[in-house]
Amino acid sequence: MQNTQLRDILNEAREQIENAANRSETEEARVRFLGKKGRLTEILRSMGTLDPEERKALGKLANDARAEIEGMLTRKFEKVKAAEHALRFSAEAVDVTEPGAPLRIGAKHPITRTIEAISRIFMRMGFSVTEGPEVETVFNNFDALNAAPNHPSRELTDTFYITEDTLLRTQTSPVQVRTLLSQAPPIKVISPGRCFRVDTADATHSPMFHQVEGLLVDEDVSMSDLKGTLDVFAKQMFGEDVKTRFRPHFFPFTEPIAEMDMSCFKCGGRGCRVCKGGGWIEVLGCGMVHPNVLRVGGVDTERHTGFAFGMGVERIAMLRHGIDDIRLFYENDMRFIEQFG
Ligand code: DAH
Repeated sequence: MQNTQLRDILNEAREQIENAANRSETEEARVRFLGKKGRLTEILRSMGTLDPEERKALGKLANDARAEIEGMLTRKFEKVKAAEHALRFSAEAVDVTEPGAPLRIGAKHPITRTIEAISRIFMRMGFSVTEGPEVETVFNNFDALNAAPNHPSRELTDTFYITEDTLLRTQTSPVQVRTLLSQAPPIKVISPGRCFRVDTADATHSPMFHQVEGLLVDEDVSMSDLKGTLDVFAKQMFGEDVKTRFRPHFFPFTEPIAEMDMSCFKCGGRGCRVCKGGGWIEVLGCGMVHPNVLRVGGVDTERHTGFAFGMGVERIAMLRHGIDDIRLFYENDMRFIEQFG
């Protein structure tokens, strides 16, 4: 009886193992026949009730059947594993002959380029570059720069305050104070950076913009040193033919105070669209450092004098490249940015 049963089991096992499509179906077949509650296991277990002769004969048959099923399973496992690998390899195959996707190389922002161009000119004249924080104290941004307590630029409508004593700097001029407090003359620095003012964005205004500040303090510094230095700057930045002129102006931290114009680099001063017909273009603010500012830094104003200047980076970049809307700088449109390489 068990004899035919064994043959049936063997046939069934052969068929099921053959038909197993993958590893888990093969494993199911293994459990079904050789597992703890498997068909063959059951037969081997039930042999305890047979007499010794019968048990011996059937035992051999059963063990042979077991060995055969094990052999089939081992071969099948190898086959499905190989098939799975082959499938994975073909799915994950990389065609190394395919042309690569081009790497997109970024471009320096025109504001960065302009700051670098300005810095290079002053560095060639012996200035070093220093930076100050964008979050400043009211003291450094206004008080130490000799701004009157009621100066209009202090108003909430003009300045972004963080607390009563701190703000987003409205100019790079507070770096003058930081430099004077941390360094003794001779001082010769420029300082580029971001500034912030409460302004509605339009073609010429932005609540965030950039300036480059300059400060020179030494013995015997005069207004003519200032004029000579800035004239060299204008010529190197906009062309050797450019002429400069200085008009009186007002800033609290300088005395005397001037605004520097240059003759239009486009039309040579005859009048065109760039200079709005006037022949002159306003470039920057400057002057001799006010003694009150020097004194904050503990400078002996009998011995040392200095000059300072500050310019808008966006304005210079717009002039250089003929850009007519400041907002283009902040949109990060690569088609715009890539034009300045
Ligand atoms: N801080 C001024 C501004 O934001 C620019 C300026 C003018 C800076 C005169 C200076 C200076 O250092 O001497 O408009």
